[in-house]
Formats: sequence, C-alpha cells, structure tokens
Amino acid sequence: MVVVLLVVVAVVTAAWAYSKYRHSYWWASGVTTAPGSLPFIGHTHKFLSRKHPRWLFIDQVYKNLGDSKFCGFYEQLKPSLMVAEPDLVKTVLIRDFDHFVDRRRVKFTSERDEIFNQLLSRASGDHWRSLRSILSPNFTTGRMKGMFNLVALKADALLDYINRKLKTQQMITLKRCFGLYTLEVISSCAFGMETNSLADENSVFNTMTENLFKPPTTAMRIKYILFRMYPQFCEALKINFTQPEIDFFKEVVQEALEQREKGGHRGDFLDLMMEARDNNKKESAIGSLKYPVTNSTVAAQSVLFLLAGYDTTANALCFTTFLLAQHPEQQQRLRRELKELILRHDTFTYQAIMDANYLDACISESLRLYPPAHFTERQCTKQYRLPGTDVVVPRSTMVFVPIWSLHHDPRYWSQPSAFLPDRFLPENRDKVVSAAYLPFGLGPRNCIGMRFALMEAKLALAKVFLEFEVSCVPGQDHLILSQQLGLMRPSSDLSLVFTPLDKH
Ligand code: HEM
Repeated sequence: MVVVLLVVVAVVTAAWAYSKYRHSYWWASGVTTAPGSLPFIGHTHKFLSRKHPRWLFIDQVYKNLGDSKFCGFYEQLKPSLMVAEPDLVKTVLIRDFDHFVDRRRVKFTSERDEIFNQLLSRASGDHWRSLRSILSPNFTTGRMKGMFNLVALKADALLDYINRKLKTQQMITLKRCFGLYTLEVISSCAFGMETNSLADENSVFNTMTENLFKPPTTAMRIKYILFRMYPQFCEALKINFTQPEIDFFKEVVQEALEQREKGGHRGDFLDLMMEARDNNKKESAIGSLKYPVTNSTVAAQSVLFLLAGYDTTANALCFTTFLLAQHPEQQQRLRRELKELILRHDTFTYQAIMDANYLDACISESLRLYPPAHFTERQCTKQYRLPGTDVVVPRSTMVFVPIWSLHHDPRYWSQPSAFLPDRFLPENRDKVVSAAYLPFGLGPRNCIGMRFALMEAKLALAKVFLEFEVSCVPGQDHLILSQQLGLMRPSSDLSLVFTPLDKH
C-alpha cells in the first residue's frame, strides 16, 4: 500500500514538475506571462470560459502590459504569444508573413469533415497559396460590381420582410432579420439558389443554417475542447467536428453544379469558381498540378462563404443598426446623406453605395467597437526571433492579435468607447493608426470577403435607413452581447422599433 502511494506521489510530482518546466518557457525568455495559468491546462480554461468572454480576459492582460509589446500564454503545455502593439502586429502579419503563413493546423479525418481540409481558411502552406491565388480574382471590385444586382434584389426582399412584420408588430428582432438577409445573399451568390428565406422563414435552407450555427450543446462543446486540446487524438479517432447539416450544403452545391453544367449562368460566385476550375483543368493538361481544383474544391468554397460570411456579416449589421438607433443624431445625418445620393444617382447603384462616406464611417466605427472577429491568430511556421529582442518564437507556436483590445486602446483612439463615426471620414482617415484597426485582419491572409461583406452590409443599411426610423425599445437601450463562444455577437433576441418614414 505504502509502495503504491509512493509511486502515485512520485508520478504526480514528476508530472507536476514537467508541467512547471513547460510553463517556464516565457519566464526563461524574459517575457511577461499572463496571470491565471493552471498546471497542464495553461490558460485554455480562460479562453474557453463562457462566464467571462475571451476578449475581456485578453483585455485585462493587455491593459496591464504597460509598454510591453507582447505577452506569453500557455495552451495546455504549449507556449502561445499575444502581439499587442501595432508595429509588431504589422511585422507578424505582413513583413515577416513567411514565418506566419498558417492558421491553427487541424487535420479533419472523418468523412463528413473532409471538406474542411479544403477550405481556404483552414488550408496551410502551398495549398493555401494555391487556393488563395485562385479565389482572389473572384473578390475584385469588378467582380463585386457584377454581383451587385443579385445582392440588391435581396436588400429589397429585406425591406419587404420588415414591412410584412410591421403589419402585426412594431419591433424587429435584428439577428433574425439580418441573418435571413445574409443567408439569402449567400444562397444566391455562393450556392446559386433562390431559397426565398426572407419570404418563408421556415425554408429548409434557413432551418439547416440555423441548426448549423445554433449555440453548441454540451456534447459539441466537449468535442470543441477536445479538438483544441488534443487534435492528434481526434485525428486518430476520426471524430466528426461538424454537424450533419454540412452534408445538406455539400449536396446543394453539387446539384447546383450539375444544373450549371447544362447551361444558365448568373454571374455569381459559383460561376466564377467553375470558371477557375475550368482554367485550372487547362493548366493541369499542360503540367501536373499539386492542388487541382475539382468540384469538391468548388463545393468547399461555397460552404466557406456560408461559414465565414453568414454570421459575421449579420452580426456587423445588427451592431451598426443598434448603434444608429442609440444615436438618433448620427442616424439623421446618415439619412440626409442617403437622400442626397438618391437625388444624384436616382437609385442605389454600386457607385452610389461606394460614394456614401458617412455610411462607410458608421459601419467602420461599428466594426471598431464590436468587431465580430475579435481576435485573429497565426501559427509560426518557421522559428522566429522577435525583432530587437532575444525572444525566440518556436515553430508551431500560436501567435494571436487582440483585435478588440487594439480597437479600444486610448493610446490610438480618443474616447474609445464612444460611437464617433467622424473618425473614419476621408478627411480623418489618415489619423487612424494602421494596424490598430483591423476588423478584417491584415496582410496576405486577411479576410478575402471584405469587399463583398461591406457591399452587402452597406446596401442593406442604406435601404433600411432610407425607409425606416429605427429606435431603441424603451428601457432596452443597452446592447447585450451573446455568451456563445466564438464570434462577438449580439444576444439573439435584441430588438428595435422600426417606424416607416413618410416618403414625401
Ligand atoms: C463583416 C463581415 C466579416 C468580418 C468582420 C470578417 C472578418 C474576418 C477576419 C478578422 C478574418 C481573419 C483575417 C486575418 O487573420 O488576418 C477573416 C478571414 C476570412 N474571411 Fe472574413 N469577415 C467577414 C465576412 C466575410 C465574408 C462575407 C466572406 C466570404 C467569402 C469571408 C471570408 C473569409 C475567409 C475565406 C477568410 C480566411 C482567409 C484566408 O485564410 O486566406 N469573410 N475574416
């Protein structure tokens, strides 16, 4: 009995000492370590806490850094690093990008998740470079103009949806309404389908999407934690990461592709991807390509549009609309600009939307205050020495950028908590400290959908604010954020009063 006890004590002591040793990496390198690390777990419990959102924990650490430009963390036993100063952020995301090409590497081995290995956002190294160069031409200004009319039809459907709701109620639930809008836009542009979700909220497409994005169940949370903490274990056991709904979307794109092969083009994202696939086929006929574009690559990127563009854009629309309801003066000013634009252009053309400086300023300021993607990260792909220091970042270390904290730092923003769109007007733009503002990330691996998201969001806001006066529900003029892990989101029942405006 005594021997067993001694063995247990020895094993526990050795394990504890090993954890201590692994957790001394930053201390030994002379780097400040964030408080709150636990043996074996490191700071993972802080990152995954639902009670205390990740951005607030990171912000507490960020505020205590003083003049230090970075801070060490531990994910289980592995060191990770926060880079917390705009110049260093630029160095990592742009100048020394070849050391930080990848995101967190997870290999999905289950059949259902196989598609995830082909997503641009998950791909690594040369595979990512190849996909990015194929996809980038689909997001140019010219391509956005080409898709503008498809998006405009959906913005009109959004107005119909709101008007229909207002026949029986005064309040509109923001997430529902903008979620349906972004879904309609994505189904039209990326899946090549008219799903009419704004006309029929119970459409299969909407039900499937809501299931895909619903708050995770306990089982899903456990899986998420497992994937984060023990990716190799999940790989080996071929554990499914996604919900079964993903199969539905794969089938939808497959069917749309078959339909398109028979003829009928719409100038949408699916057409552009098929064009890229055909060009790629010609190239592979000349020489063998390591990463050929197949129908499954096309399907993966359509699914990515949904995963990366649905919730993010809908949340940005909710935040901007809520802020404008909280600030009636700014709302009036926006409406004046929109009316002038309509007088000049007759209708909301692509150019009119691009000319709307105050609209741009309002959405930019909203993305500053509430960036849906509140942090971004890269994996170190080649050992790296932080410039001007002896600190070595080992290969495979995760390096992250605290977007939310940079957006709220009084060193870069006067009155950081106030909604002041003027700071983003063209005459003030040069005062914005670059890399202290990065709602779409930065550098070669920034958000590829930025132009599309802004076009989609601006068009919806322009149409909504020209048609309705939007105000807070009495007694509910504070924005409540969702506790769900992941993106920064408003609570799902956040509502506003919409009052139709007299057009004469
Ligand atoms: C307001 C809406 C959106 C916001 C705030 C947003 C934000 C971001 C951010 C912060 C990143 C990480 C960038 C980095 O690490 O430097 C990102 C990546 C990405 N976003 Fe967006 N995004 C939005 C909409 C969209 C849309 C509509 C699409 C549609 C295609 C999209 C596709 C992507 C993709 C594919 C990546 C990964 C890029 C890569 O790894 O090469 N996003 N986004």
